Amino acid sequence: MCGIVGYIGNNDAKEILLKGLEKLEYRGYDSAGIAVSNEEGVHVFKEKGRIADLRKIVDDEVFAPTGIGHTRWATHGVPSQVNAHPHKSASGRFTIVHNGVIENYDLLKKEYLPNQELKSDTDTEVVVQLIEHFVENGMNIKAAFVQTLKLLKGSYAIALLDDQNKEVIYVAKNKSPLLVGLGDSFNVVASDAMAMLQVTNKYVELVDKEIVIVEKSGISIETLDGEVISREAYTAELDASDIEKGTYPHYMLKEIDEQPLAIRKIIQEYQGQDGKLTIDSAIVEAVKNADRLYIIAAGTSYHAGLLGKQFIEKSAKIPVEVHVASEFGYNMPLLSEKPLFIFITQSGETADSRAVLVHVKELGYPTLTITNVPGSTLSREADHTLLLYAGPEIAVASTKAYTAQMAVLSILADVTAKSKGYEPEFDLIHELGIIANAMEVIFEEKEDIEKIASEYLATTRNAFFIGRGIDFYVGLEGSLKLKEISYIQAEGFAGGELKHGTIALIEDGTPIIALATQESVNLSIRGNVKEVVARGANPCIISMKGLEMEGDRFIVPAVHEMLTPLISVVPLQLIAYYAALHRGCDVDKPRNLAKSVTVE
Ligand code: G6P
Repeated sequence: MCGIVGYIGNNDAKEILLKGLEKLEYRGYDSAGIAVSNEEGVHVFKEKGRIADLRKIVDDEVFAPTGIGHTRWATHGVPSQVNAHPHKSASGRFTIVHNGVIENYDLLKKEYLPNQELKSDTDTEVVVQLIEHFVENGMNIKAAFVQTLKLLKGSYAIALLDDQNKEVIYVAKNKSPLLVGLGDSFNVVASDAMAMLQVTNKYVELVDKEIVIVEKSGISIETLDGEVISREAYTAELDASDIEKGTYPHYMLKEIDEQPLAIRKIIQEYQGQDGKLTIDSAIVEAVKNADRLYIIAAGTSYHAGLLGKQFIEKSAKIPVEVHVASEFGYNMPLLSEKPLFIFITQSGETADSRAVLVHVKELGYPTLTITNVPGSTLSREADHTLLLYAGPEIAVASTKAYTAQMAVLSILADVTAKSKGYEPEFDLIHELGIIANAMEVIFEEKEDIEKIASEYLATTRNAFFIGRGIDFYVGLEGSLKLKEISYIQAEGFAGGELKHGTIALIEDGTPIIALATQESVNLSIRGNVKEVVARGANPCIISMKGLEMEGDRFIVPAVHEMLTPLISVVPLQLIAYYAALHRGCDVDKPRNLAKSVTVE
């Protein structure tokens, strides 16, 4: 969701900015733009649509060693060329790009800029006009920037150019992610390190309510109250090849295929020298000390949380509640005496989850983030972090992060259980190894899975996923994957629940994808399938070796009963992928969605 890049140095900024924006495409956007500054002034190029559309209108003749760029995911105002960033102030002196949402932009406009005509519908334009307003009233640019930031309510990451001082990019953030990258005679600004990995792997984290003066020779950080801050740079441990598609047609397929690798990497990272699974003892103590765990997450991560609850309650015998992050603030449950809050987030940036983190920290409760992105906001701000080690996930539809989340949660459950003195029922390292191998067995059946997608989903309007027990949760994830990228209206239901209403939607040929990987409910889920078949549904049963019955459409290899979600989700990911392909959808960048949802 919205991305920012900036460059100040000696080379031409245009290509660096455009390449940077391409690396941010995965976050989701609907328009893009760059502003580059040289002796002639600040040149703005912006366009609705993709970076490829922007490239077509960028003037190759302009050489400029400073610039900022932006991908916009519309919040205030429709996706259009006018609403795309960068935005200029009325006189043209200041040019801004902004991520986030300024909640009080309307009030600020009324109070400070009552007669100012705005060109766009964005909240952002108010910010740049406000800066100019304060400069026109006698403040220097830095003071005007700070004064403006102090008035803003909401979230922002901002990069600002001043046509009268071409040696600086002014930068600030609050709640929205932003980094400054350091180079030799140049410096950069980026929403995430991946965008500027092309020029540097040295980054400095920014903290909320600081401003940064970025020059080609160095950077200086200050709080809004003028206190100078010094902060060490860190090296982004990312391999540029991790964020390339290679020979794959889509990132999603690459990332599905990377799941066995991710599981093996997780085993390796969480294995101590004695060969046993191990987790930082402070984390294990925090979990053991809690009388209840509250998992907070959104989207796919929420679905992983539902399964994490099963793992932790069964193995470590600690009660767990799982909450949708965006609802937690309104429907806050009665908390136990000693809660531990666990945030599951692939990106580590989701604004809904972060809002809960900020709130529970204010209440003084301990926090743990499980994320794929070291150094991300939720990782930095929580007391503890567990990493997923899945490698960068670029496709909007999350796949390898989901299975990695489940693997890490199973390890957390296992290590905590052992630390509480419970004898494990199975050898988790061994079972996770079986899972990685079983995933590879499923990949050999891709052609068959593609057929399932075309047989069942090529033209359908809707589809339902059913399962009982943990299969139900996997069905929720399968249906989310399908709707995200193929736009088929897909819903997941507990096997027994469909008949309490939704069965009214079953028509001749309605696809029902049923999961049957649990021995204890194998017969009852098949009973539910019969109910819908009697009403014309077209059933696709996905079962597990050993539980299969005649007519099952796909059989996954047998794995430990508790870990079946790690394997049964794989055909569902592939079904969604092929269904989207058959329907001509943009698999990696589905409409309206953003990978990293940095607004609440
Ligand atoms: C967005 C993405 C989803 C993701 C959710 C939570 O909606 O499109 O794929 O599951 O955010 O993201 P997180 O980074 O917190 O796991």
